[in-house]
Amino acid sequence: MSQAALSGKNYVVTGANSGIGLFSARRFAQLGANVALVCRNEQRGREAVTEIIATTGNANISLYLADFSSLASVSEMADNLLRDIPKIDVLCNNAGGANGSRTVTEEGFETTFVSNHLSSFLLTKKLLPAILNAAGEDLARIVFTSSYGHFNSALDFNDLGLKEGYSTLKAYGRSKLMNLLTARELQNRLAGKSVVASSFHPGAVRTPIWKKGGLLARLLGLILYPFMKSVAQGSATFIWLASSEDRASKGADGHYFYEGKRADTAKFATDEDAKRLWQKSEELVAPYC
Ligand SMILES: NC(=O)c1ccc[n+]([C@@H]2O[C@H](COP(=O)([O-])OP(=O)(O)OC[C@H]3O[C@@H](n4cnc5c(N)ncnc54)[C@H](OP(=O)(O)O)[C@@H]3O)[C@@H](O)[C@H]2O)c1
Repeated sequence: MSQAALSGKNYVVTGANSGIGLFSARRFAQLGANVALVCRNEQRGREAVTEIIATTGNANISLYLADFSSLASVSEMADNLLRDIPKIDVLCNNAGGANGSRTVTEEGFETTFVSNHLSSFLLTKKLLPAILNAAGEDLARIVFTSSYGHFNSALDFNDLGLKEGYSTLKAYGRSKLMNLLTARELQNRLAGKSVVASSFHPGAVRTPIWKKGGLLARLLGLILYPFMKSVAQGSATFIWLASSEDRASKGADGHYFYEGKRADTAKFATDEDAKRLWQKSEELVAPYC
């Protein structure tokens, strides 16, 4: 791609102050895009903006704040984005993490469920008019950072908040299953529009995530550390899926990728569950739309 390949394009990247999000946002900036970084912590967000501007020479980097454990916070931030950026070419739904124990937010949702799934669902829904505004001669794109962890277990629609049998890996895995199902159903709903939705697994990547998810995540991180991908390697598929230089969909339409290729999803990642999850998520986020 040429250095100015993404010039004039508007990118929104969530979880953009660290790891895969930061690396990818920096790359989009390097390629000339206007990049809106969505972060939960103002200081970490400001540091990311400063670093990206300094390393890329691209000054069109902005910061938006939202805590994804709060739908109200995400909704307000989405309104700010819509006010400032009426055309969004690419939305990267990347913010996410694991939680060592089951907690419930003030809004009444299990924390991993809302932070990793419902918030990106709400953000996507609210930003859709701006994304459709950008979808024309070039394709607009929506990419979800999912995970191989989605193989952990099927969804239980009677207990999406895991009141029964919570474990860090189960909650995380299911939220990542929700990410790939959302990309798939979103693509169905966008049939005929110039928008491509996709999801991907970055691999096990050396990012701070392993230090944030409680004891089990820390332990797993220590064991896997020697075998992990670099952040650059883990971000490559993301950057490839999110690069909207032209109309090529790259065969991404609704699919799940790993290392630049379509990858298998769990057998229980069915189209029926994708539809059902969409309907349920719509109901849950409705008060915040
Ligand atoms: N690293 C891996 O091996 C791996 C493997 C598979 C999938 N993934 C996925 O990759 C994505 C990026 O993770 P990463 O590995 O780059 O880890 P990371 O460096 O910890 O980055 C995660 C980003 O998400 C943000 N975030 C987490 N919870 C949030 C919340 N409640 N509200 C707002 N922002 C929140 C973090 O903000 P703070 O900096 O404020 O915490 C950070 O900016 C995640 O969705 C993760 O599930 C990672």
